[in-house]
Amino acid sequence: MASALSQAPVGTLTRGTVSPQRPIPEHIDRPNYVGLPEPPKYTGPDSFDAETVARIRRAARLAADAMVATGRLVKPGVTTDELDAFAHNYLIERGAYPSCLSYRGFPKSICTSINEVVCHGIPDSTVLKDGDIVNLDITAYLDGAHGDHNVTFMVGEVDEESRLLVERTQEAMMRGIRAAKPGRPINVIGRAIEVYARRFGYGTVHEFIGHGVGPAFHTGLVIPHYDAAPEYSQPIEPGMVFTVEPMLTLGTRHWDMWEDGWTAVTRDRKRTAQFEHTVLITDEGAEILTLPTEGDS
Ligand code: MF3
Ligand code: CO
Ligand code: CO
Repeated sequence: MASALSQAPVGTLTRGTVSPQRPIPEHIDRPNYVGLPEPPKYTGPDSFDAETVARIRRAARLAADAMVATGRLVKPGVTTDELDAFAHNYLIERGAYPSCLSYRGFPKSICTSINEVVCHGIPDSTVLKDGDIVNLDITAYLDGAHGDHNVTFMVGEVDEESRLLVERTQEAMMRGIRAAKPGRPINVIGRAIEVYARRFGYGTVHEFIGHGVGPAFHTGLVIPHYDAAPEYSQPIEPGMVFTVEPMLTLGTRHWDMWEDGWTAVTRDRKRTAQFEHTVLITDEGAEILTLPTEGDS
């Protein structure tokens, strides 16, 4: 029996008003792309030495700590701009630069993607309401390294269909992470994600990908979230650091771009969810780096 709260509504989201750009204190080190239309090409390695990994680890933990703190504010009545302001201040108070700010001209410090927004929603005056789902994507740049993390939160009481989508998208990410072992082809990650998503009839978005991360926000290493065989047969190597960040949809995997050039919404306006971790490949498998400081949550 379908109850009133069992099915996810189709979205009707429209853009709100974007507040003025938030300042960054002078003493905070900026990534190299700030002020440029696109980032300088990254020419470094995909696998990192211990010193670089240590720096990525700190940035990743800070992003996760910021997520825990910002996530506590997610409730009906809060605006996505208020979440952006909080995360911005959290990061700069700890000496970090919010990596999204001015990345390819992105105007805000985090991404906030509601309901039918696949990814890269711009924080604005939009008020979260009971029953929404919202993804916060927070990236910290600290001591020359980026850590990238996103979580989909449920706002108040959410319908069953949306709740299952959120839970299963997190599980899909975890299956992708557990599939990532040294010596296996990169494609095993996306295959694990897509096989799991298909079980429920969910779409898997192809065009937004996981990526190498560390000294650069996006290093050029590509991690698909779907089965791309025979492509992406390159072996996973110890020392690699990359994100796994699948976007699953209740309907079509195809999307439209808003006129702002950032906000991707599902073509059928059905809901979509995403989770993202930054992981380090060790001899054993993938270690999640975007975990909060013990005792912080
Ligand atoms: N953090 C996003 C990712 O997971 C990238 C956001 S780019 C931005 O790769 F410009 F929208 F911030
Ligand atoms: Co990412
Ligand atoms: Co991200």
